[in-house]
Amino acid sequence: MLKKQSVVIAGGGSTYTAGIVMMLIENQDKFPLRTLKFYDNDGERQKIVADACAIIIQERAPEIEFIATTEPEEAFTDVDFVMAHIRVGGLPMRGLDEKIPLKHGVVGQETCGPGGIAYGMRSIPGVIELVEFMEQYSPEAWMLNYSNPASIVAEATRILKPDSKIINICDMPVAIKKGIADIIGLADGNDIVDRYYGLNHFGWWTEMLDKSGNDLLPKIKEHVAKWGYGPSSVENDNPLLEEASWMDTFQKAKDSYSVDPETLPNTYLKYYLFPDDVVAHSDPTFTRADEVMANREKTIFAECQRVAAAGTAAETSFEAGEHAEFIVQLAGALAYNTYERMLLIVENNGAVANLPLDAMVEVPCLVSKRGYEPLAMGIIPQFQKGMIEQQLAVEKLVVQAYLEQSYQKLLQAITLSKTVPSATVAKAILDDLVEANQAYWPVLK
Ligand code: NAD
Ligand code: G6P
Ligand code: MN
Repeated sequence: MLKKQSVVIAGGGSTYTAGIVMMLIENQDKFPLRTLKFYDNDGERQKIVADACAIIIQERAPEIEFIATTEPEEAFTDVDFVMAHIRVGGLPMRGLDEKIPLKHGVVGQETCGPGGIAYGMRSIPGVIELVEFMEQYSPEAWMLNYSNPASIVAEATRILKPDSKIINICDMPVAIKKGIADIIGLADGNDIVDRYYGLNHFGWWTEMLDKSGNDLLPKIKEHVAKWGYGPSSVENDNPLLEEASWMDTFQKAKDSYSVDPETLPNTYLKYYLFPDDVVAHSDPTFTRADEVMANREKTIFAECQRVAAAGTAAETSFEAGEHAEFIVQLAGALAYNTYERMLLIVENNGAVANLPLDAMVEVPCLVSKRGYEPLAMGIIPQFQKGMIEQQLAVEKLVVQAYLEQSYQKLLQAITLSKTVPSATVAKAILDDLVEANQAYWPVLK
């Protein structure tokens, strides 16, 4: 009998919450729950999701006690895991993170370039507050954090909460491996055993084997050279790729791959390797935040309201995808000592031999009751090392700017981003971002 767990989802009103609830319910044999709680600082938004999830739980796993609250003490007391996915400033602020740089001819993106830097300055205090609630009310718990920008959040937690039990994670490598599994005819992305190194949204694969140890790279490379991570025909069952903008991003990996055919790139490298092309294909009046509000957010909230009005979730369209699978698998590995291998964002400490010890890197780790143990990825090539060191300096400067309330350091961070052409453009963007983020950022000196 596995010991039952108590979980709080922080950011209960997130568009990802219902998917995680579906995954948790489907995994009661592998990760049984005694309590599930939702916490959010926007009670009204959370209530919409909670009302639907209460019905789903009542119908499918009534033994789980379910609570939705905006009270930190109630939320964080007696929990084993905090699954965090907050968005400080919400999708409207994401929209400004994307539109302000674009106005100056620079990539406008949730986690990359000046938009990601702006989001980092908002996220740091929000995530640190969650860590403090956890440490106060459930000091033995683990926080598994999806809240973005994960690189900057990870660097901030490394400095501000060095002893905290927080693991920062990203679903992009998981989603890419799912796409690759579909392409090469493997049942599951989890069947790919990989070697990968980099920063979050900034990394490369050097190896992909199947579970028997056969090298999958030759076949994958042949495909990526032609189609990127997109399918070679219109037929594909990857829900992510139903959206044209994600399909473009998966296909664009073809070009990132051409820069270094020795490795396979993370999709996010397109923002650093082809910023001119990305800007040329962006609509500064309708960015990804607008798309998400018009599609994912609208669909999910409509489905929540439909379930609540019907009083039954018998026909719900909510599904558990690989995003939810990854966080639940990680919690299970920590709780039940499975020693599964997963990509996590952790302090380098030599895992990548020729990067600084104190870089927060994304590398494969073995996960068990002891926590995570990063695997040694060895020495990386000059090209990747150069790119990573530049981006690492950007992320470290953002956290320093936040801690010292320094305009100058934030200007240096934006200037150093590979997406920004000059210090003049960096300053113009920063001044607009300061104005837009008054309600969130510390006052810069
Ligand atoms: P969303 O805006 O729909 O949901 C976020 C929720 O967080 C909202 O209900 C909001 O009220 C709440 N919130 C905001 N600030 C808070 C705070 N300080 N305390 C408590 N609650 C707070 O956003 P979404 O599109 O569902 O995304 C949620 C987060 O997950 C984002 O940060 C997104 O970037 C991240 N995400 C990360 C990955 C990854 O790979 N790491 C993958 C998917 C999503
Ligand atoms: C991937 C990334 C996340 C990012 C998300 C954005 O899942 O790993 O870090 O938040 O994409 O997706 P969206 O659909 O909101 O643009
Ligand atoms: Mn991510």
